[in-house]
Amino acid sequence: MSDKRFSRAEVASYNQKDNVVLIIHNHVYDVKAFLDEHPGGHEVLVNVVGKDASEDFDDIGHSLDAKELMKKYRIGELVDEDKTPEKKRPQYNNVTTVKEEGFLAAWKLPIFLGIIATVVWQYFFN
Ligand code: HEM
Repeated sequence: MSDKRFSRAEVASYNQKDNVVLIIHNHVYDVKAFLDEHPGGHEVLVNVVGKDASEDFDDIGHSLDAKELMKKYRIGELVDEDKTPEKKRPQYNNVTTVKEEGFLAAWKLPIFLGIIATVVWQYFFN
C-alpha cells in the first residue's frame, strides 16, 4: 500500500479549514468530513488541527469502534524521522505481567504456610 508521508512541519501547515489534518500515534488524519459527526464535538478536533493529538485522543479513552472509524480518515503517516517511538503498549503489557505475578505470589505464601501448618499439626496431634 502506498502511504503518503508527512513531516510534522507539513502537518502543522495544514492549519486551514479545507484540511483538518492532525496526528494521532504517528498516523495522519484528515477529519474534515468527520467534524460534524464526531460525538466529542467539532471544536475539540478543530483545536488540535496541525498538531499531535495522541495524548488528547488517549485521555478520552476512545472505544474500539472509534479506533475502527478513524481508519476511514487516515491519509498517511509521519516520516520516520518525525515519529514518536510508541513505547506505551509494551509498558502496559509489562505492568499487566507484573500484576499477574504479584497476584500469584500473594497466593503462594498463604498456601505454603497452610501446607506447613497441616504437616506440623499432623506431626504433633496424630
Ligand atoms: C479520527 C479521529 C477520531 C475519531 C474517529 C473519534 C471518534 C470518536 C467517537 C466514535 C466517540 C464516541 C465515544 C467512543 O466511541 O469512544 C468520540 C468521543 C470523543 N472524542 Fe473523539 N475521535 C477522534 C479524535 C478525537 C480527538 C483528537 C479528540 C481530542 C482532541 C477527541 C475527543 C473526544 C471527546 C472529548 C469525546 C467525548 C467523550 C465523552 O463524551 O465521553 N476525539 N470520538
